[in-house]
Amino acid sequence: MTENDQDPTRQVEAARKAFEQEFGRFARFTDDSTSISGVGLEQALAEQRAVAELRTRHLGKKSELAACKKLIGRVAPEQRAAFGQLVQSTEQQVASSVDRAEQNLKSYIEAEQTARETIDVTLPGRRPRLGHRHPITLVRERIEDIFVSLGYVIEDDREVETDFYNFDALNIPENHPARAWQDTFYTKDGYALRSQTSTVQIHAMQRRGVPVRMIAPGRVFRRDTPDPTHNPMFFQVEGLCVDRGITMAHLKGTVAEFLRRMFGPNTVTRFRPSYFPFTEPSAEFDFSCFKCGGSGCRICKNSGWIELGGSGMVHPNVLRIVGVDPQEFSGFAFGFGIDRMCGLMYTLDDIRLLFENDVRFLEQFS
Ligand code: DAH
Repeated sequence: MTENDQDPTRQVEAARKAFEQEFGRFARFTDDSTSISGVGLEQALAEQRAVAELRTRHLGKKSELAACKKLIGRVAPEQRAAFGQLVQSTEQQVASSVDRAEQNLKSYIEAEQTARETIDVTLPGRRPRLGHRHPITLVRERIEDIFVSLGYVIEDDREVETDFYNFDALNIPENHPARAWQDTFYTKDGYALRSQTSTVQIHAMQRRGVPVRMIAPGRVFRRDTPDPTHNPMFFQVEGLCVDRGITMAHLKGTVAEFLRRMFGPNTVTRFRPSYFPFTEPSAEFDFSCFKCGGSGCRICKNSGWIELGGSGMVHPNVLRIVGVDPQEFSGFAFGFGIDRMCGLMYTLDDIRLLFENDVRFLEQFS
């Protein structure tokens, strides 16, 4: 051992030097907390952790100064008091530097955190933007209001169906050509997205029995390629009225009254013979153009008439399949597209606009 190594005073000095060197970059924090300003909260928190580590390294149990303390008992008795004092005062200086830096960092961090969390209660709140109904919903609700006032209930039923409800129960047997033009989307386990809201006729009669008066607005699906007048998903309204003594006159009266309330009291309705598997007889219905009143314009393509939907007297097979006796009860049904009606009313060039969710388009209906 050299004499230097044995000199405990030098060991204390070395410990102090090592501390001062490392503490150098934190020295500015010891002045007061204003010297920290501009450091920023995240940086200040990092500095706080660094100072804590520094404390452990230079004042902890395994520090150089702790080793020096253990030497006190071993130095010669006449030097012991002086050496003890040196160790103690060095330790106090180191501790006081670390304390001041820690204290200032702490006050700075607290002030920053308080400033961040302060809420200005006098600031005006952020108003949520008020939404509005989709144009299809607007039209659907008008349709619903009219039929409710005529004593109809609104049915809301499933969009995923079995072949039974979409076809068989509606008198469309397998291999019937009507299945082809209503080709829809099938799942692997025998379900299909309904291609028409006529499915709800069956559900409603099974659930409610007869007499029944209901309309069922809802989504339907077909494997159509989208174009300005087609979309693979669109909306229909189905109507069904079954009671004793219901005739075609009731059908015509109901549809005509609905269209007058929808498009004005002068609206004229026209029925054309047609074919649907679930009605017999069947008819398609048109109404006089709401724009030109029948003289011909762009909307009605100069025909004066607008084609709207299908209808007819409920086929006896449809009544039988839900356990209703066609000798006792008769009924009418109708169905038409909401999107098409919506497109006409708002003179849309392309019904796909209704489903693209472009707010610039939708905002016009607020
Ligand atoms: N389901 C038919 C379609 O999707 C529309 C329809 C026609 C419904 C005649 C009816 C009806 O209730 O009687 O084209």
